[in-house]
Formats: sequence, structure tokens, C-alpha cells
Amino acid sequence: MSTVATPPIRTRKSTADPLESLFAAILATAAKPREKSITLPAAAYTDPDFAEFEKREIFQKEWISLCHVSQIPNAGDFVRVDLCGEPMLVVRGKDMNVRVLSRTCRHRGMDLMPSGFGHPDEGNKRVILCPYHLWSYDLGGKLVGAPEMQKAEDFDRSEVCLHEFHSEIWEGFVFATLAADIAPLADKFSRFKDQFIGKWDMANADLVWSAHWECKFNWKILLENFMEAYHHLGAHMKTLEPFLPARGCWTEPYDPEFSCMHLPLKDSMKEKILKTNDPGTPFPIFPNLVIDDCLEWWVFLGYPNFLLFSAPDRVYWYRLLPTGPETCTLMTTMIIPKIAKEMPGYEDILKKEIQGGIDFHMEDMEVCIATQRGMSSVGHAPGSLSHLEEPIWQFEKYLAEVIKRSA
Ligand code: FES
Ligand SMILES: [Fe+2]
Repeated sequence: MSTVATPPIRTRKSTADPLESLFAAILATAAKPREKSITLPAAAYTDPDFAEFEKREIFQKEWISLCHVSQIPNAGDFVRVDLCGEPMLVVRGKDMNVRVLSRTCRHRGMDLMPSGFGHPDEGNKRVILCPYHLWSYDLGGKLVGAPEMQKAEDFDRSEVCLHEFHSEIWEGFVFATLAADIAPLADKFSRFKDQFIGKWDMANADLVWSAHWECKFNWKILLENFMEAYHHLGAHMKTLEPFLPARGCWTEPYDPEFSCMHLPLKDSMKEKILKTNDPGTPFPIFPNLVIDDCLEWWVFLGYPNFLLFSAPDRVYWYRLLPTGPETCTLMTTMIIPKIAKEMPGYEDILKKEIQGGIDFHMEDMEVCIATQRGMSSVGHAPGSLSHLEEPIWQFEKYLAEVIKRSA
């Protein structure tokens, strides 16, 4: 007698959506008290569905920093950037206003400055020319030229314009958002500015160095690395640990909009600064800072990804954007007070300080690449966090809020 096999009864566990399981694990991780905090599940750094979720719920819904105004001081100056696959051009117009325009041509949709065609990430243009059929746009995005279109009916060139994204300049940084309905950035970051970063007055500073990196790790690997000083012990043993020892670092209480860690200088340096009333910095300090501000460095994160490593005389701003579940693109920069250019030996000092920034960044790149490797390993399990990694726990709370608001 033949029998028909009964299909296996599916348990709730086997039918659970892996993304929902990941959400639940992240919520449970973020709910732990700081003393019991652990790292995120590995899938948060590898899962394509979670990366899509982050794209949709974070990068398409938040304010994202794209460039500093000092990168585009003159009419026609531009910065080219892709925000989660959305091709953008930050450009200063003839009217000196800054706009964030789409790089998508209004003819057949070509990226006006595609990757791989030798377009620089930063530069100057008098007109924005599509290389495909030579339609051209002015610096405000208005179509000004379209050859051989005289026989096209229902085509009015005066009505054709590149899409302009919603943007805001805040503390000297150009932010854009893909969200249709969002509170002004100045409101979101008002406490962040008033209590912490406003005193650097970065709107009146100069970005003097930028470098672009294509990275083989999830964006959060670098963000977490950036926001904790624990790794000074190992990764920066010879560069940062000697003057910014990990042990003395401490974190401001959790805030839903930003995270801030203090990195005090080693004691002998603090004593010397107070005794001599001289900050002893290579560049002049930012004009609004006082000598007590020179006793420490800081790391800041304005959620979701506005990263600043701030010293009394320079700010390293990192523009970090995901390009896939296990890849991201990074622009590292250095911003210094305008008056620095007037100091004797400025060029040589700048060269030396840029190299110093590259040196510790290379140390970070190495550990980030190697950490990503661990996210796909069967040997991986969430690990306990040190009190020196408190900003990671705070970021987990931000991520949990994103998951909750998306439900
Ligand atoms: S796609 Fe740009 S001119 Fe045709
Ligand atoms: Fe680091």
C-alpha cells in the first residue's frame, strides 16, 4: 500500500523572517544596560536585506552630510557624491547659492558624471554637460542647450531642469535629504551644536585636505571603530595612545540625536598646557576655544553618520556612505581655522599633519577590513563591550529606534 508523505509541520521558528529575527536580536542587544552591553549580531554587517532596510529607513530618511562649504568657495565649484545609489552634485551657482542637484540627465537619464569616466570627485565647471547627446545645464540645473531638438514637439527647454534635492547648510556643512517630510536639521542638532560642536565655528574654517577611499567593510564597522577609544591600546599603540591614552576616555550620557566621547590628553601634556598657558598645537586653536578646551580631544557622531574627530586646532570630518552590505565609500578630511594659513611654515606643518592623519587612518582601515572578515565566520558570536566603547552601545540604541519607528 502506498502512502502519501505528510508535509512537515513548519514551526514558527523555521518560518520566521530572518530580517525580523535580526531586528529582534538588535532590539534585545540595545536594551541591555551599558554594563552588560555586547556587539551587534554579525548579520547586521552582512545581510543584504538589512542593508536595504538601512538604506530605506536611515539614508533615505535622515539628513546626510555631503561636503563642507570651503570645498566649493567659487561659482562652478562642485563635489560629486552618490548617496545610496542616488547620483548627486553639490554645486555653487553663479548666484553663489549652494544646491544639491541630481546628476540624472533629463533626456534619457544618463548619469552626467558617471564613475569610471574619469570625472573628478571635486572640481569646477562653467556648465554641466551630458556626454551622451550633449544636453547642457547651467549651474542652477536649468537646461541651456539641447542640440537637434528643433523638431521635437511638446519640448520646451525652458521647463527642463535637473532635480534639486532638499538641502541645508549647517555649521559649514552641506547636508541633503531624500525625505519628503523632515524637520529642519538646525532643530534636530540644536543641542549638539549648543552644548558641543558649535564652539569650533566650522562655518568659518577651511577644509584643507580630503581623500577618497573605497572600503571593503560595512559602514557600521568604521563608525563603531571611529567612536570608541578602546582601540588606541592596540591599533593606535604608536600613534594616538601615547598622547590620547584609552584609559582616561569617557562618554557623555545617551542622547537620541548624537554621541560624544571625551579623549583627555595624557597627564603630563595637560600639566604643561596649564602651566605655560600654551596649547602647544601645530595649528592655532579655533578662535572660540579657551585653554581648558585644549586639555582633550573629542569624537562626535551626529546620528546617523556625521562623524567628527575634533582637536583644539583641527577637526577630522569623515563622510561615510554605504555602497552595499559589506562595502562603503569614505571621504576623510581635515578642517582647520582660517588663521592657520598665516602662520610661518604653514605648508610644511600642513603636510606633516596630513601625513599624521593618514597614518592613524591606515591603522583603522586595517582593523576594519579584518573585522569585516569576522562577520562571515562561523567562529563569530557577539562580544562584550568595554566601558571605553560606550558610544557603540549608544549607537545600538539609535539603530533600535530606527527599527521601532519603521514598524
Ligand atoms: S542622456 Fe543626456 S543628453 Fe541624452
Ligand atoms: Fe581609530
